[in-house]
Amino acid sequence: MTDILYVNGGRPLKGTINVRGAKNFVSKAMVAALLGETPSVLKNVPDIKDVHVVSGLLGLHGVKVDYDVEAGVIHMDPSKVESAGVTEIDAHAGQSRIPILLCGPLLHRLGEAFIPDLGGCAIGDRPIDYHLEILRQMGATVEKTEHGIHLKAPKRLQGTKIALEYPSVGATEQLLLAAVMAEGITELSNAAVEPEILDLIAVLQKMGAIINVDADRVIRIEGVDKLEGYIHCALADRIEAASWASAALATKGDITVMGATQAEMMTFLNVYRKVGGKFEVLHDGIRFYHPGGDLHGIFMETDVHPGFMTDWQQPLVVALTQANGLSIVHETVYENRFGFTDALIKMGANIQIYRECLGNRACRFGQRNYRHSAVISGPTPLHPADITVPDLRGGFSHLIAALAADGRSTVRGIKLIDRGYEKFREKLAALDADIEEG
Ligand code: EPZ
Repeated sequence: MTDILYVNGGRPLKGTINVRGAKNFVSKAMVAALLGETPSVLKNVPDIKDVHVVSGLLGLHGVKVDYDVEAGVIHMDPSKVESAGVTEIDAHAGQSRIPILLCGPLLHRLGEAFIPDLGGCAIGDRPIDYHLEILRQMGATVEKTEHGIHLKAPKRLQGTKIALEYPSVGATEQLLLAAVMAEGITELSNAAVEPEILDLIAVLQKMGAIINVDADRVIRIEGVDKLEGYIHCALADRIEAASWASAALATKGDITVMGATQAEMMTFLNVYRKVGGKFEVLHDGIRFYHPGGDLHGIFMETDVHPGFMTDWQQPLVVALTQANGLSIVHETVYENRFGFTDALIKMGANIQIYRECLGNRACRFGQRNYRHSAVISGPTPLHPADITVPDLRGGFSHLIAALAADGRSTVRGIKLIDRGYEKFREKLAALDADIEEG
């Protein structure tokens, strides 16, 4: 497959597509399989690049992985877990942030772990200080070297009491994967409680873990001596579902997303309705459509669950360029998630980005040099352009903009989208989009 897509836009996307398991759950559930004494089976696995990267990482550590891509089923046998060479792991540096989550399981299984340099990315610095602090507090030693970070656990990891400065998804998962087999009780306050995390907790419970999610974002884990494998069907990808929903709105289309679930998308659905989009919750999916007439500008802030997901923000902003009046979007999760709007502005959108918190509350990025609030004034017709995908969600947003713009756009760097959107070219064709591979 090539890295360029030509898009002849201006046609409504119409039809039915299917979403499978959530990218941001599947990779973590695969890591959890390392903790079991017996094999695990994960179902509803999407064919996306991140799954292949994690399969490769598990394979490097001696896990036998059998992946039936069409059926979406992965069998993982961790009975021969071993240390991987630093150079082999290093080859995965920059491809994925998952190596950091292997630490807890590897420290339990082997007493050591190595994390390559993960680097930053287009949406922010994405530090790992919370992760390292959790592992240190549980008794691991952390040594930074030229290539990455070496961790050692001279004895079994110990339960501890930790409060996160911010409810980080990855740090909460780090703690879960490390604490389930630690000695004693671990208590995490200010934990993230995203549906993908609750599904990971369900997997760990199936394996034999004891985890309580208490009120006020407190998670308590009683460490156990051993865990078994699991059989689990991944929850649906609510980010992919919302991306297609926004594509329906921006192109004046009508898309039924089979597999999408209401409970995990409630906050998105409320905002969708306020913008003027319509949806119909079906038995096994959700139909999203533009009902005709005007869309409305809105005020919206991204937040941790149960708030409006940061990953929903970028695709929806494209639809907001087609809404009447002003929309204000305050991004409070990542400091730099509006870079993708440069391309939208080039295509004719009227968007201003501000350093101030244009929201109900001051966030961590206010009064600093982070351009994290957007004012969008619409509706503005979008013109075709030659654009380059900046990151996964920003890239899908560029694709939506090209599909909405009247005429032929060139979208470069399209392979980045394969990281998180299964068979998106086929899905676009099924929705009657006019696209050609470059
Ligand atoms: C996960 O990233 C997702 N990635 C992201 O999806 C998602 O946007 C994010 O959660 C928020 O929902 C995966 O699950 C693989 P965080 P994660 O730790 O865990 C700061 C996508 O496109 N922070 O909740 O890395 C951090 O800088 C991706 O699918 C620290 O300061 O996100 C950010 O501002 C993009 N120190 C905030 O916390 C740390 O040690 C939230 O990040 C860790 C995080």
